[in-house]
Amino acid sequence: MVYNIALVKGDGIGPEIVSSAVKVLEKVGAKYGHEFKCTDYLAGGCAIDATGMPLPEETVEGCRNSDSVLLGAVGGPKWDTLPGNIRPEKALLGLRSALGLFTNLRPAKIYPALSGACTLRPDIVAKGFDLVMVRELTGGIYFGERGRRVGKYGDEAYDTEAYSVMEVERIARVAFETARKRRKNVVSIDKANVLETSRLWRETVHRVAEEYPDVECSDMLVDNAAMQLVRDPSRFDVVVTSNMFGDILSDEASQITGSIGLLASASLGSGKCGLYEPIHGSAPDIAGQNKANPIATILSAAMMLRYSLDLTAEADCIENAVNAAIEAGFRTADIMAGSEGTPLTCTEMTEKIIERL
Ligand code: IPM
Ligand code: MG
Repeated sequence: MVYNIALVKGDGIGPEIVSSAVKVLEKVGAKYGHEFKCTDYLAGGCAIDATGMPLPEETVEGCRNSDSVLLGAVGGPKWDTLPGNIRPEKALLGLRSALGLFTNLRPAKIYPALSGACTLRPDIVAKGFDLVMVRELTGGIYFGERGRRVGKYGDEAYDTEAYSVMEVERIARVAFETARKRRKNVVSIDKANVLETSRLWRETVHRVAEEYPDVECSDMLVDNAAMQLVRDPSRFDVVVTSNMFGDILSDEASQITGSIGLLASASLGSGKCGLYEPIHGSAPDIAGQNKANPIATILSAAMMLRYSLDLTAEADCIENAVNAAIEAGFRTADIMAGSEGTPLTCTEMTEKIIERL
């Protein structure tokens, strides 16, 4: 089979880590008889430099017409002072919205071999954890009305959070379907003691829950959830939450795995085309130095094979190779804690994974 993949390498370490994932895809393609035809598209700071806009129409069209999109990261200090509507991050939000990718899946689990890199107490790490964060991605405060105005105390700014029943229902269904394939437990996170959107969220999730009597469902307030994630992450299976709470809690969940450099994500809509990206950013401080950890992007490519291309054996093959490389003791700088020796470069780590495919 031939698959058309849109590559959005982006800024900072984006080009290095996406190139690593492409090398992995090439090897997997050769092994299983597929061709991954990759086409580069600009988005983020590099697109602003080249075209003046963070998300050129050509990129949106190219991504829409591909079988799937693999993205590195966007943004960097160079573009930090631009006005909100032409910031690099706008590219990411615009792409998610244009492709209708309302679901963001962010799995977080502990690799036993990396428990030394985990910042939690050893007795908590020893219990292990394996959760998936289901984050709503095209609604809420990220996409609500915003602006500047003059208020009671002079100049002010505002952002608004709005959720429709339809938006909550569809993300809740994704969470329950995901839980059915796992440990059958959903925790819905909100701030229903304060926010009206959260009260609608909670009511709606409960109604959808009735369609899934085999899945256990409970609510948790977001402040408590932030605490429970570091107190006992093993209690979570599937977590479903709004766009902004999901943004914040998924960074927290990634940190307790040992490194944000390990976490992959899938953004999905109602069709097959998805957008796959590491959850970390463009790391401008180490860009171009061949120091980045390519694992999150390589695992994102594995998620792409699994969710958009239905290539399960191929996805397993990549995930097993990453596991094997970690088990064998290979480490990039971000996951060195507790290990001996010099860290591997991005390309060296990629080679160690490729050897194990
Ligand atoms: C993420 C990122 C983005 C987000 C930024 C870069 C716009 O933090 O994917 O988690 O907030 O969604
Ligand atoms: Mg984030």
